[in-house]
Amino acid sequence: MKTTISVIKADVGSVSGHGVAHPALIDKCDEILAKALEESILEDYYIARCGDDIDLIMTHKNGEENEEVHKTAFDAFMQATEEARKLKLYGAGQDILSDTFSGNIKGMGPGVAEMEFKERPSDPVIVYCCDKTEPGAFNLPLYRIFADPFNTAGLVIDPSLHDGFKFEIFDVMEHRKVTMSCPEEAYDLLALLGSTGRYVIKRVYKKNGEIAASVSTERLNLMAGKYVGKDDPVAICRAQSGFPAAGEVIEPFAFPHLVGGWMRGSHNGPLMPTSEDEANPIRFDGPPRIIGLGFQVSDCKLIGPVDLFDDPAFDNTRKQAADIAEYMRRHGPFEPHRLPSEEMEYTSLPGVLEKLESRFSKME
Ligand code: F6R
Ligand code: MG
Ligand code: MG
Repeated sequence: MKTTISVIKADVGSVSGHGVAHPALIDKCDEILAKALEESILEDYYIARCGDDIDLIMTHKNGEENEEVHKTAFDAFMQATEEARKLKLYGAGQDILSDTFSGNIKGMGPGVAEMEFKERPSDPVIVYCCDKTEPGAFNLPLYRIFADPFNTAGLVIDPSLHDGFKFEIFDVMEHRKVTMSCPEEAYDLLALLGSTGRYVIKRVYKKNGEIAASVSTERLNLMAGKYVGKDDPVAICRAQSGFPAAGEVIEPFAFPHLVGGWMRGSHNGPLMPTSEDEANPIRFDGPPRIIGLGFQVSDCKLIGPVDLFDDPAFDNTRKQAADIAEYMRRHGPFEPHRLPSEEMEYTSLPGVLEKLESRFSKME
């Protein structure tokens, strides 16, 4: 029997402004998920929070895109939305684009990362949840985990990793996908992955086809056709024994790379790794956050989590991120702090530019 991990996330309201999901919303989700556990839809779950996003981490035996599991998440977010409306929380129901469930939560607003696998004798799994950024924020760290020997020592020295990995890339603008193999096609892969707003890693596989990582790639603004907040992605990574070691899966986040998101989803800023408790994007609605939760998956149960960035070894990364945040902020409304024009299309900027249109006249 295979185990499925489904991580489904949404922002359905927060305090103050787009800051922090209220505990009452998490309690509501807990109620719905506990009921699904009783009804044996789920085997286990853990509810995480990163900023204004609630991340439902669920294990079950129903495979990916299962209607009952997706409906459970949908019901949890709908009930939490009701609670958010009662408390007049900010952005109540923000990520729920439709209130009628039709079999699959994908395309309805929430982000989804899932993977199904046969459990190994011991199966470490790491779940990452972000706030104030987009799915492409995982391109750099996932490349480093599964393709860069300067990050993952095992790619060089462990025969079970030496063959490399395959990357499934989504072109979120053109709705196309491509699979590329590393190390053979590393340069071609990087030619795509550098465009983080367009090409995003959806899945990573071992060369024998075993799933290694899965990312939520929903782009809310492209779905809604207008600015409704950033997508605040999640990712699931398997570790150890034929996969990168847990430490290799965590290592790239010691570098607070620049990601799109932050204030109004319109600014580049450093991705700051924090504990769950410190995942409160406050300064200029940020800087963007990531939390990491380490589990052992054991007979479809979640053992853990360990709060991976609750580690003084990441203090320096946080300090560096805070320094970079300070430096970037000094640019105010200028690129490269503000995102480039193509990326601003789905923000509130076109509304302003439209009004200026009639002021322009032809140059000689
Ligand atoms: C970014 C985000 C916030 C809001 C900002 C304006 O993903 O959620 O930075 O964009 O607080 O919010 P509104 O437009 O709701 O006033
Ligand atoms: Mg919000
Ligand atoms: Mg958010």
